[in-house]
Formats: sequence, C-alpha cells, structure tokens
Amino acid sequence: MARKFGIFFTIFCLLFTSSLADWNILKEYKTNDGLKISLKNYCESWRMNVELHNIRNYVVVPQECVTYIGKYMTSTQYKVDSERTIDECILHLSTNCILENDGKDAWIFDIDDTLLSSIPYYKKNEFGGNKLNVTSLEDWMSQGKGTALGHSVKLFNHLKKLGVKIFLVSSRREHLRSATTDNLVHVGFYGWSSLILRGQEDECKNVQKFKAEARSKLISKGYRILGIVGDQWSSIVGLPSAKRTFKLPNPMYYVA
Ligand SMILES: *[C@@H]1O[C@H](CO)[C@@H](O)[C@H](O)[C@H]1NC(C)=O
Repeated sequence: MARKFGIFFTIFCLLFTSSLADWNILKEYKTNDGLKISLKNYCESWRMNVELHNIRNYVVVPQECVTYIGKYMTSTQYKVDSERTIDECILHLSTNCILENDGKDAWIFDIDDTLLSSIPYYKKNEFGGNKLNVTSLEDWMSQGKGTALGHSVKLFNHLKKLGVKIFLVSSRREHLRSATTDNLVHVGFYGWSSLILRGQEDECKNVQKFKAEARSKLISKGYRILGIVGDQWSSIVGLPSAKRTFKLPNPMYYVA
C-alpha cells in the first residue's frame, strides 16, 4: 500500500511539475508588446541580437536558451554561417584589395572560435550557460585540444599563397604561448608572422584596447591591414581598424 502510494505520489509530482513548467513558459514567453512566442523564437532573437552587437556584456547564456545555443553551435547552420563569413573574406581580398607584395600586406586573425574551436570545452560547460571559470578554461587550453575551424584553414592557406602576412592577435595570456603554438600547428595552422598574446602589462586593460594597440603597432611598422576576422566584437571594433572587418558567429560568451 505504502509503495503504491509512493508511485502515485511520484506520478502526481511529475505531472504537477511539468504542467507548472509549461505554465511558466506560456507566461514568460510573451514579448514586452504582448506577442505570444515560442521558446525558440525567444532564443533565436537573443542570439541574433548578440551577433548584431545589440546585446553586450552578458556573463552567461540565459539558462532557458542553453539547449538552443548548444544545438546551434553543433549544427550545420553554424558551419554554413562560418563558411559564409570566410567566403566573404576571400571575396573581399579578390575584389577590394590590391596587393602591393612588398611584405607589408597583412591580415589579422583571432584564435579562439576563429581558428581553434572551443566547442569541445563549452560542450562540458553548458555552452556558455555556466559562468566562465578562467582556471578551468586555461587548463583546457594548455592541453592543446582545440579543433580547427575548417573554413578558417582555407582562408589561412589562401592568404599564405597570396603572400599576405598573417598576425594572430589573441586575448590568451603569454603563459599559454607554447601550448597555443603546438595546438595551432597540430591542426594545420602554420607559417604566421607573429603570435601576439596578452602580456602582464596588458592584463589591466580590456581586450578591445589591447587589440587596438596591437594593430596600432603593426601600422606603425608599415603594415597595411587588409582585414580582421574574429568571433568577438572586441577583436574588430576600435581604432585603428582594418580595411574591412569580419565577424564569425559566437553566442557562447562575450569578451569586452
Ligand atoms: C574552477 O575550475 C577549477 C579547475 O577545474 C576548479 O578547481 C575550481 O573549483 C573551479 N571554480 C569554481 C568557482 O567553480
């Protein structure tokens, strides 16, 4: 009898909590103007506005969108979106750029989620739904397990063939230099001109300022920056800039 009641009670709880959850969804997923929307509508609009740089400085992916973001990051759509970005870079090089071939044509890449995918790490960390733990992220980076973003390999090799100098400007810290180099070479990126990482003197400035200063130094050495490709707005905004900038999708985290 007690067991029967136990089962009944469990079923009752399951029914009750699931209907409560549905009720929450119905109540919550209404826009401010009263439009009734699905959770997918809500999360797709969140992601789109992150990419448009309307939503900034978020610390975590909203809990209710973790499943959606995880699906997007592991989807064909993410791959197609990234490939399109890279194809536009190649088009820009062939239509807007006259190469001088004097060793001063330059291109800048970001590293994380531009050359190396950190999806294997974020898969275990709720696709950005968990607050960033720098120690565990750097532990992962030091293992050199980042996978290549395939389309970026294509652009990287295209630039090498054109004789354009490649600069890697990353917010990774100096102590990760050898692990980063090993990881990049291991997955097929080699032959860059310089790997610029964040030194101790850069730690107190935000990433956007650090990256703008890196560009400024390159320009003062006579380089013409034909393009930048990065997954973060902090990699491409600020002055001095490049002839053009390209943003890869990444809704998992925001680096200011
Ligand atoms: C961050 O990660 C480290 C290494 O994995 C772990 O020891 C530590 O407990 C984590 N900190 C928090 C606040 O979760």
